[in-house]
Amino acid sequence: MHIQNKKRFYLMMGLLGVLIILLGLSIYMIWNAISSSNAPVQTTSDAANPAATNSTQGNRTDTTASQVIADPNDTLVLVNKTTNLDEDYLPSDLVWLDLPGVRETQLRKEAAAPLEDLFDAAELKNLSLYCCSGYRSYQTQKELYSENVKSYGQKEADLVSAKPGQSEHQTGLAMDVTAESVNFDLLESFGQTAEGEFIKNNAHQYGFIIRYPEDKTAITGYAYEPWHLRYVGKDVAEEIFKNNLTFEEYLKTS
Ligand code: DAL
Ligand code: ZN
Repeated sequence: MHIQNKKRFYLMMGLLGVLIILLGLSIYMIWNAISSSNAPVQTTSDAANPAATNSTQGNRTDTTASQVIADPNDTLVLVNKTTNLDEDYLPSDLVWLDLPGVRETQLRKEAAAPLEDLFDAAELKNLSLYCCSGYRSYQTQKELYSENVKSYGQKEADLVSAKPGQSEHQTGLAMDVTAESVNFDLLESFGQTAEGEFIKNNAHQYGFIIRYPEDKTAITGYAYEPWHLRYVGKDVAEEIFKNNLTFEEYLKTS
């Protein structure tokens, strides 16, 4: 090839290369723009959730959360379907319990000693209580809730299992208890066992309430859970017991 033609050939090839690269880049950018406009609308971010943007205590994944928990360390903290704990909330004073149980579990320090006293009082009546589940992290609750939704469907699951951030177990102030007569399970029939009757009638003396009483679903949002104890302190527990209140009702009237 003539030297002049050779030069022209290499110039053309170079230009062609640049054009191919530019074309590739344009296709890549157009493709990116199309895929991001098809992405689902992000409704779970802080930006889309006013409860989360207004406070560090807003739930980050539940857009139904309408109230914000000011002090998650308060013994009287209300955690329910409208007041949520932050995903990162972890009580700083959790202790392992030295009590019979289905598994090793934790509670906040102020609730642990009264629970031991309650178990001792039951023992004096020849009743054996067992811990089933105390503190649960946001992550554990998330897994439990989604297992329940898979097994029972969302409507049923919502009656028995709290969404992450909405479970009292994350406060470290709640404990599920059980007995051998119900095969160490969490069953409604536990309420009719001697152990279930015992805690129903005596837990308040140790600062605990049955948090989800029978026939109070319209207020608590959950089915009867004769096993779920919540520590609120002795004075409050006694008032709730004496007046047959739910925790929600007590907080409204106090
Ligand atoms: N079973 C209660 C409502 C919870 O999941 O915390
Ligand atoms: Zn529970």
